[in-house]
Amino acid sequence: MKAVELRDKFGLDGLTLTDRPEPRPGTGQVLLKMRAWSLNFRDLLVAKGLYNPKLRLPFVPLSDGVGQVASLGQGVTRVKAGERVAGIFMQKWLAGEVNEAKARTSLGGGGEGMLAEYVVLHEDGVVPVPEHLTDEEAATLPCAAVTAWHALIAEGNLKAGDTVLVQGTGGVSLFALQFARLGGARVIATSSSDAKLERARVLGASDGINYKATPEWEEKARELTGGAGVDHVVEVGGAGTLAKSLRAVRMNGRISLIGILSGGTGQVNPIPILMKNVRVQGIYVGSREMFEAMNRAIALHKLRPVVDRVFAFAEIREALRHMESGAHFGKICLRI
Ligand SMILES: NC(=O)c1ccc[n+]([C@@H]2O[C@H](COP(=O)([O-])OP(=O)(O)OC[C@H]3O[C@@H](n4cnc5c(N)ncnc54)[C@H](OP(=O)(O)O)[C@@H]3O)[C@@H](O)[C@H]2O)c1
Repeated sequence: MKAVELRDKFGLDGLTLTDRPEPRPGTGQVLLKMRAWSLNFRDLLVAKGLYNPKLRLPFVPLSDGVGQVASLGQGVTRVKAGERVAGIFMQKWLAGEVNEAKARTSLGGGGEGMLAEYVVLHEDGVVPVPEHLTDEEAATLPCAAVTAWHALIAEGNLKAGDTVLVQGTGGVSLFALQFARLGGARVIATSSSDAKLERARVLGASDGINYKATPEWEEKARELTGGAGVDHVVEVGGAGTLAKSLRAVRMNGRISLIGILSGGTGQVNPIPILMKNVRVQGIYVGSREMFEAMNRAIALHKLRPVVDRVFAFAEIREALRHMESGAHFGKICLRI
C-alpha cells in the first residue's frame, strides 16, 4: 500500500510517498481503508521537527482521517465491516479525565498517524461519523472539532445569550463559531482579513474585528459588549494574544487556552486573572465520549464543517504549504 512518511529528515521536503506492507488487524483491532484526511497546525509542527524533535523516523504523520472498516480482527464488537469511522485523537482517552498515559497515545504525534492507504486501530479508538457528511468533512472532526467542543460545551458551560470571541478563521476557531451558534451564543470573530470576516458573518458571527487593522481588538470587543467584555475567549494565539484576551474577557468570564499561533513563550501578568475572577482553562483535544456527544449534535443539526480546499493524498507537501501561508478559511483536507 501507499503511505506518506517523514523518511529520514524533518521538513516538508522530508515527506516521502512510499510503499509499506498492508497491515493486518490483530485481536480487537480493525483495518480501515482510508478515504480522506484533514490537516491540523500540529501536523505542520510535526513535519518540521518542532513538535517533537526526538521523534523516531521514519514516521507516518497526521492525526485526522476517515476510512471504511475493511476487515475485523478477532473479538471486535463495537464496529461492523463497511462502517465509516474516524480515529480518535488520543487512542486511549475514551472518557473521564486525561492522564499522561492517555496523552501519549495521540495519533501522528505520540504514535504513528493516519496518512496511509490502510490503517489498523483498536476498535476502542474509532467512532462512526455522521452520515450526512462527505468523507472530507468527516475527516475534519477528530482534532479541531473535538477541541472546540471540549472548550465550549464539555468544559465551557456555554449558555444561550453568551458572547464568544473566536480568534482567526482556522479550523478550531470556525468549529468554535459553529458550536457557539448551535448553543445560542453571539460570536465575535477576529481575522487578519476583511474578506474572511465576511465569510465568518455568513456562518453566523454577528461582529468581525480585523486584528491587523485594529491591533486593539480587545478594546473593540469590550465596546461591542457595552464595556463588559465577552463571556468566553477561544484563545488560539497563545503568548502574543493572551494579555489582550484577558482584557477582552468579562469579570467571571472564561478563556480556553488552545493554541500558540503567535508564540509559546512570553510573560503573563497574573493580576487580571485573579482580579477579574477569570477562569483560564487549558484544553488538549478531548475524549471519545466528547467526540460521540459532538457527533450527535452535528448529526441532529446537520452541521457542515468548513472545508477550505481538498488536495490529493500525494500532495501533502503542497497542502501543508497552503496551511503555512495562512490563506485558508477552515479546514484543509486530502483525499485518495
Ligand atoms: N490544544 C489543543 O488540543 C489543540 C487542538 C487543535 C489545535 N491547537 C492549536 O490551535 C491553534 C490553531 O490550530 P488550527 O488547526 O485551527 O490552525 P489553522 O487552521 O492553521 O488556523 C490558523 C489561523 O489562525 C489565525 N491566526 C494566526 N495567528 C493569529 C493571531 N496572532 N491572532 C489571531 N488569529 C491568528 C489566522 O486566521 P486569519 O487568517 O483569519 O487571521 C490563521 O489563518 C494552533 O496553535 C494549534 O496548534 C491546539
